[in-house]
Amino acid sequence: MILSFDAPGDKSLSHRVLLLGPLAEGRSCLRGVSPCDDVRCTRRALEALGVRIEGEGDETLITGPARWRPPPGEIDCGNSGTTARLLLGLLSGLGLPAVLCGDASLSGRPMDRVVYPLQAMGARIRYLKEEDRLPVALEARRSGSLRSLRHRPRVASAQVKSSLLLAGLASAVPVEVIEPTPTRDHTERLLQEMGAPLSVARMPGGGSAVALESMKHGPALRPLDLGVPGDFSAAASLLAAAWLGAGEVRVVRVGLNARRTGLLRAAAQMGARFEVGEEGVEAGEPMGTLRGSPSRLRASDVGGRLLVDLVDEVPVLAVLAARASGVSRIRGAAELRRKESDRLSTVAAGLQTVGVRCREHSDGLDIEGTDAPLAGVVRTGGDHRIAMAFGVLGAAPGCEITVDDPMCVSISYPGFWRDLERLAGRSGA
Ligand code: S3P
Repeated sequence: MILSFDAPGDKSLSHRVLLLGPLAEGRSCLRGVSPCDDVRCTRRALEALGVRIEGEGDETLITGPARWRPPPGEIDCGNSGTTARLLLGLLSGLGLPAVLCGDASLSGRPMDRVVYPLQAMGARIRYLKEEDRLPVALEARRSGSLRSLRHRPRVASAQVKSSLLLAGLASAVPVEVIEPTPTRDHTERLLQEMGAPLSVARMPGGGSAVALESMKHGPALRPLDLGVPGDFSAAASLLAAAWLGAGEVRVVRVGLNARRTGLLRAAAQMGARFEVGEEGVEAGEPMGTLRGSPSRLRASDVGGRLLVDLVDEVPVLAVLAARASGVSRIRGAAELRRKESDRLSTVAAGLQTVGVRCREHSDGLDIEGTDAPLAGVVRTGGDHRIAMAFGVLGAAPGCEITVDDPMCVSISYPGFWRDLERLAGRSGA
């Protein structure tokens, strides 16, 4: 028998529907917004700015304010880089004064990548403690007083691209973002759903240029009325558990955007058994059912563009590599050091703790697969993706692994342990 799961609503898309909904004329109606902590941070921030958000889960209704208001206190972005970086763009575009802060992990992550281009547009943003880090203060500006921008980010980042598009949208100035390696394009797809004047041109060499025209004289944005597809990153944990022997799974209504599903390409190279059934389009995104079953895995090399399409799945890829025959090499992953934890170090330390040979490089890992029993307590560094990856490895036959901070999974996937137990418990792992 195959076990069936519903993944929680996609986290990236949930942030974006909450941020874009209030910019439309009329009320947006959203089904399946993620209940995770990160998305709650975005919701609270928007409510502090006067956005009306009613309901959750089955139906969330969003109405933009007649007049955006400065937040009454600091905006706490918690652990969420997407909240901080995308809000910086929105607030800059609206010209609202605000102070943004975050938890210890987020306060150690770089902000120059959005602050510099926003300053080039004319936003006044100051670091309050340390350069390149939260907390930051934005000064009030007349709404609509930003300049247009053409920007080529130095790192492949959907957060940077989305932040600049939000700034352009909210201040009605054109913005063009040129990406040598295209990143997840959820913002672009939603904006097109809403009728924004946005175009995407493919460039020679595989890059793309995303151009948003000024909304000054155009028609207003249409409100959103959609269901948020399930989170591929959450589904990836369940698939990985299946591949490692926990049992057969099916995950329904999962978002299948190619800029997110790189893990499937890497897993195919490793011999993982799965099927993808595309069943339709929701929120402008392809969506469907994923099936996975226990597989004999072999080592693989992963890097280059593929890495951008599985940027959040490197921890789970690493635990797959730990159970594959041979040495897997992950390269081109230096950005992983700037996520919720230094994910190259936390993954390497976790693998070594449970008995897997792993060598850390400046931009990647070498992982020697083993079928020996693995055991130990892994330190997550409070990083949800580390907790889930080692949870998956712990559910594999022959493994006795626990993590020091299991609750941190609520940052992106509050039901993770319940779902994993349902899957792995059945197989007697
Ligand atoms: C995200 C983009 C990615 C990803 C993050 C979510 C987004 O970060 O790692 O978890 O929703 O835009 P970068 O844009 O920094 O690559």
